[in-house]
Amino acid sequence: MKRFKNKIVLITGAGSGIGRSTAVRFDEEGATSILVDINEEQLLETKNMLSNSYSKTKVLDISSYDNSKICFNEIKEDFKKLDCLINVAGVLRFDNSHEVELENWNKIININLTGTFFMCNLAIPMLLESQGSIVNVSSTAALGSHAWTAAYSASKGGISAFSKTLAVEYGLRGLNVNCVCPASIETPMSTSPNLPKDIDTRLLKKIMPVDGINRSPDDIASTIAFLASEDAIHINGIDLRVDGGLLT
Ligand SMILES: NC(=O)c1ccc[n+]([C@@H]2O[C@H](COP(=O)([O-])OP(=O)(O)OC[C@H]3O[C@@H](n4cnc5c(N)ncnc54)[C@H](O)[C@@H]3O)[C@@H](O)[C@H]2O)c1
Repeated sequence: MKRFKNKIVLITGAGSGIGRSTAVRFDEEGATSILVDINEEQLLETKNMLSNSYSKTKVLDISSYDNSKICFNEIKEDFKKLDCLINVAGVLRFDNSHEVELENWNKIININLTGTFFMCNLAIPMLLESQGSIVNVSSTAALGSHAWTAAYSASKGGISAFSKTLAVEYGLRGLNVNCVCPASIETPMSTSPNLPKDIDTRLLKKIMPVDGINRSPDDIASTIAFLASEDAIHINGIDLRVDGGLLT
């Protein structure tokens, strides 16, 4: 299946986990990818996994508007168009909510929510020209109730809410915007979570996989590729849970 032949796709968070799997999936489906991440070394590792030699890496902290703007100007210059924007980059930390420090709150909101907004804000003019698509990676934390993740859950709730704003605002002009809400995916983010001491372990079942098994990031990459593709032409403004039934 080569659904992204001749398509230019930007993927944030491409240096690890779900973003890396997504980069590999789009490459397999024929895309030319712009891989974005703050971590240069890991980004290059992902690039080496791809077959399309026209794909490029961009080292970028998505929470910087100025640097994101420079990055998009370079993309316009180099690629002339953009067909899909896939926002995967994100950070997570666990704290008791009454112990969250402002610095950590701001960091999580700035990267997860504001960074995703910057990417959409800068990409939309090009995506309207190409009649493209946006897929934002939210979380079951946006839909259910996950303890010890006040800033993270707020950021993901924000992503899901503002994605619907974009969907309704631009859908009639040919741009679809959807969210994927994963849970229990085996990546560096989810393995060995640094939970606060003395937690009430009864709450763990709300954030842990129902069958005790973590799934592969490839299972999210396939869903992202579907939502970004023509196969999902009549899907706009949804939160698609990919959580093995965690919230069911
Ligand atoms: N793993 C899960 O079970 C799970 C569940 C729900 C949602 N998610 C979401 O999926 C996305 C990917 O998570 P993952 O599990 O692959 O984690 P990960 O830690 O493996 O990957 C996150 C990537 O984002 C990059 N990144 C972090 N801050 C950045 C910044 N400021 N600018 C650019 N890049 C930055 C990191 O360098 C890393 O490569 C995140 O948005 C996460 O919230 C993951």
